[in-house]
Amino acid sequence: MRIIVEKDYQTMSKKAALMVASQITLKPDSNLGLATGGTPLGMYDKLIEMYRDDEIDFNEVQSFNLDEYCGLKADHPNSYHHYMYQNLFNEINIQKENIHIPDGAAEDSQQECRDYEKSIKRARGIDLQILGIGSNGHIGFNEPAENLNVATEVVDLTEETIEANSRYFDSKDEVPKKAISMGMATILKADRIVLLASGKNKAEAIKKTVSGKISTQVPATLLQTHPEITILLDQEAASLINKEDLSADCHFEICE
Ligand code: F6R
Repeated sequence: MRIIVEKDYQTMSKKAALMVASQITLKPDSNLGLATGGTPLGMYDKLIEMYRDDEIDFNEVQSFNLDEYCGLKADHPNSYHHYMYQNLFNEINIQKENIHIPDGAAEDSQQECRDYEKSIKRARGIDLQILGIGSNGHIGFNEPAENLNVATEVVDLTEETIEANSRYFDSKDEVPKKAISMGMATILKADRIVLLASGKNKAEAIKKTVSGKISTQVPATLLQTHPEITILLDQEAASLINKEDLSADCHFEICE
């Protein structure tokens, strides 16, 4: 595990964008796993800037989003489809047919989950997976539980996640209670993973993720088993990490 602590959200986002850009430079037909939420917005802004400056070309890139709310059509302003087009896809040259996001409004959501897994397999897997983290340690919408899903499935959102995500809706009641989410094995099969976290409200979950015992009650702890994982943080999200608690092979770097 590699932990990089950046001064603030802006520098963290810039480094994340540089990591994505170097992935695409090395492999122009990369498959990217993408996240939504507040955290990756700065990274998406920077990627758009780099695209406009001719520093990055998305023409051959395929994207696979982690999740989508059940019951929201693609054009719903709170759907993750809408989020991705507004915050990234409309501004870059990714090909529409190369964009993959689970269809939350699919009539047969179980079939949609199976098809989504197949589309990732067909593309030969994800090269670089970008993740955010919930303050309860969820990744994608894999919520703390006794058992976690292996593959893409329909999941129930926890009260905590509904509360956290209600900031984007007119009221808490409007937040969907279910979502389609990549499973833990789907995520862990990515060749490289970069998890981003910013702010004090993520500090506890990050502490557990990097040094806690592996537990399905903090799904992000499973990332400790991945051979190519980078945890990219701002100082606030890193504030509870105790260096002594990190495993010997963990690389810890503070950028000034
Ligand atoms: C979003 C996703 C979620 C978020 C997490 C953090 O696609 O999979 O796991 O990454 O809920 O959300 P923010 O960044 O809004 O704090």
